[in-house]
Amino acid sequence: MARITHGIASSHIPVLGFAADHGKTQDPIFKPAFDGYRWTREWIANEGKPDVVVLVYNDHASAFDMNVIPTFAIGCAESFRVCDEGYGPRPVPSVVGHPDLAWHIAQSLILDDFDMTIFNKMDVDHGLTVPLTMMFGEDCKEWPTTVVPLAVNVVTYPPPSGNRCWLLGEAIARAVNSYEEDLNVHVWGTGGMSHQLQGPRAGLINREWDNMFLDKLVGDTQDLRHIPHIEYLRETGSEGIEMVMWLIMRGALGRETRCLHRHYHVPVSNTALGHIVLEPVDGTVPQSPTFEADGAVTTSID
Ligand code: DHB
Ligand code: FE
Repeated sequence: MARITHGIASSHIPVLGFAADHGKTQDPIFKPAFDGYRWTREWIANEGKPDVVVLVYNDHASAFDMNVIPTFAIGCAESFRVCDEGYGPRPVPSVVGHPDLAWHIAQSLILDDFDMTIFNKMDVDHGLTVPLTMMFGEDCKEWPTTVVPLAVNVVTYPPPSGNRCWLLGEAIARAVNSYEEDLNVHVWGTGGMSHQLQGPRAGLINREWDNMFLDKLVGDTQDLRHIPHIEYLRETGSEGIEMVMWLIMRGALGRETRCLHRHYHVPVSNTALGHIVLEPVDGTVPQSPTFEADGAVTTSID
């Protein structure tokens, strides 16, 4: 049986991809950011190595545009090319998919009432490739894992609610646990933390709020699922909303998590850098939401 063994969250700051691609990771400005991933790189190259990563990320108008805006989309292709974001594609390997698991997850999610968009051809941008670089290093000739990309709209209003993301994570856990092959599956949530890239508040960073968010990913609190969009906007800037993607990862880990590693660093680019490695404490797979007679939806993890 496939199992979700770990959840990882990480910012996907494009300039760190640039630094990795141009031999600048030891430059004074970038070194502290990369140093915070040393523990993870060591761990993931050894006992933490996944067979598949369900990589939750957002496309930044690179593949999708205003013509098509899927709220949740899953990539079922054999492979995904690295897209050109204006300066040529990053010189990193193409991303190898896991079509069989991806189709299984797509079927399970859709029959579990999540209306997924399925994509079979899509180039992936820094939202997906920068976290791969941060975790696996800058010298990969090929990525040491297969990837099921799961794209979330956090670019055009309205993004999904934090609660909906958490519920999707729970549904991903049900999907993975019903896949027969023995696979070590990670779920990664990417983007964030506080950042605003444009307008009068550009450069906004909120260390206190970001660290509250990191604190509450650990343990059994469910507070984060109820944070409204307006709070992300007010406290963490217009792009801070990317953090709802971390809640898909958190929801997939079940009732309680423990923290294996945590890193928070400012400044790098316009964004607060956050990174955390989590493991489920009891591996409980949440049950499907049930509809009560009065129409209320509840979720049980017993
Ligand atoms: C930056 C961060 C992002 O999440 C992004 O998508 C683009 C740029 C930045 O910090 O520069
Ligand atoms: Fe982003």
